[in-house]
Amino acid sequence: MIRLEDREFEYIVQYAKEKYGLNLEKKRVLVECRLKGELEKHHVSSFSEYLVMISRDRSGKMAEDMISRLTTHYTYFMREFKHFELIRDVILPEVSRKQMPSVYSVWCAGCSTGQECYTLEMTLEEYRKTGSWMPVVMMLATDISEPVLKQAQSGIYKLKELESIPPAWRERYCTVGQDQTFQIKEALRTPVRFRKQNLKDYVQEKEQFDLILCRNVMIYFDTADKRRLVRELEKSLRPGGYLLVGHSELLPKDETSLNYVGSAAYRKE
Ligand SMILES: C[S@@+](CC[C@H](N)C(=O)[O-])C[C@H]1O[C@@H](n2cnc3c(N)ncnc32)[C@H](O)[C@@H]1O
Repeated sequence: MIRLEDREFEYIVQYAKEKYGLNLEKKRVLVECRLKGELEKHHVSSFSEYLVMISRDRSGKMAEDMISRLTTHYTYFMREFKHFELIRDVILPEVSRKQMPSVYSVWCAGCSTGQECYTLEMTLEEYRKTGSWMPVVMMLATDISEPVLKQAQSGIYKLKELESIPPAWRERYCTVGQDQTFQIKEALRTPVRFRKQNLKDYVQEKEQFDLILCRNVMIYFDTADKRRLVRELEKSLRPGGYLLVGHSELLPKDETSLNYVGSAAYRKE
């Protein structure tokens, strides 16, 4: 295997931190292993050669491919299910009681291959079936990686992932294909807008959200980048809106003005 020289590793660490907020300082072996395929793809025999190629690639595609390899996209259906229980048992009943807003905006930030937003779509559909009042839901799902966004948009997954979806939901929301895959039904795919977005640069946009899921993303950020992002996410929430973070990403009290409501969930009062 091609080894990373100290200065090559330092360059990659610096680049990933500055541009994407990723902290790779203690991940030398991971960087070597994950970039092996990229070096082969571009027929280069050293990391220096590869980094020069990236700096000359005006399209930015090579740099994006490198970052996509270096980020962890691990995700699965029904992950941290307590969040979906909270949505079903607390958040949606609250919306139904108030009968507002008429359009409910949701953002899955760092959506990876889409299992998170489709679990959410299934949860919303199930709630809708109870006959309770429901607003129109607009869902945005973003990630920095093009390849994962492509897969998320297709809604196609390996058949073995079907096991983590409750049987009744499989029937309603998934179609099994002939090649050991299944696809999320169109009715659930169509309402989700997928978009490339770098959370490192994120500043509050015009669009405001009632619910933001930013789970298992900030874990890769250092404290300063995380604090900055949390502040921007807070600004992007409507009053009464919720921010859900990964169960291992609880926000220290001095890092947020949101109220902790349990299960790695925060509410803007
Ligand atoms: C471990 S996955 C988590 C997926 C999903 N949220 C979940 O909890 O299962 C982390 C995702 O965050 C994305 N990510 C990492 N850094 C990012 C950044 N700076 N901007 C946007 N997305 C980022 C990665 O590409 C990856 O797909």
